[in-house]
Amino acid sequence: MKRPEIALEDSARGRVTRDGIRIHEPADFEGMHRAGRLAAEILDAITSQVVPGVTTDALDREIERMIADAGAESATIGYRGYQHASCISVNHVVCHGIPGPKALKDGDILNIDVTVIVEGWFGDTSRMFVAGRPSRKAERLIDVTHDALMEGIAAVRPGNTFGDIGAAIQRHVESQRMSVVRDFCGHGLGRVFHAPPNVLHYGRAGSGPVLEEGMFFTIEPMVNLGRPETKILADEWTAVTRDKSLSAQFEHAVGVTAGGCEIFTLSPAGLFHPTWARG
Ligand code: MF3
Ligand code: CO
Ligand code: CO
Repeated sequence: MKRPEIALEDSARGRVTRDGIRIHEPADFEGMHRAGRLAAEILDAITSQVVPGVTTDALDREIERMIADAGAESATIGYRGYQHASCISVNHVVCHGIPGPKALKDGDILNIDVTVIVEGWFGDTSRMFVAGRPSRKAERLIDVTHDALMEGIAAVRPGNTFGDIGAAIQRHVESQRMSVVRDFCGHGLGRVFHAPPNVLHYGRAGSGPVLEEGMFFTIEPMVNLGRPETKILADEWTAVTRDKSLSAQFEHAVGVTAGGCEIFTLSPAGLFHPTWARG
């Protein structure tokens, strides 16, 4: 995710709306589908290794190896000085957690976020994992965050607006007495990592740019059990909840189609949501 800001994309191909949003061609969906699928397959493959005792460093090294084995590239290594193939955000870390030597403990919940580049296209997805048995409130947080993302995706169709997506997410989260993080947002992507627009996870229905077929972007709500405020640690990456409450996030990359949207980052193994929802 990115911090909300406006930066116009400078590529020459295709049409760009007056909000700076690129309208991709039908053939471009195939490139995004391949990149998104690889990112999702990597998260599928890491799932069985997320257990108490494993370090987030070890998970990241495995992810880096899988990206290389696939002949792809990590979008995050070297991005603004970031040095890892994934962000791993544990418990009260909201996003951009840096993999490190600390071992996971029973009951930890974590988001793993991977972005790969396949033939120039960016595949960006993240999901929640649990080490051992999470608490009931952690399970509820994960369910609500997952469902909020899906409510947002259900609002993606030509003619709707970005505000409709944010409003759907916010409505679901706040109806469950949890809070939506405002300090980070989703983003356009395609042949670039972070492009317009800022995809806010809150807002007013009917506000913001109108969705058009061929727009590619992520939706990646971060939801806190407590208050929405975040702060960034001294490492200049790790964002945590100010009140130290638990935080969760799910991210899909989508493309707007005539009838709604295509999700580029679906899990081929059906592992997008942690286990208890499948049982
Ligand atoms: N994958 C993140 C996103 O969803 C961005 C991570 S940038 C990094 O946009 F440098 F922190 F890796
Ligand atoms: Co993203
Ligand atoms: Co991401």
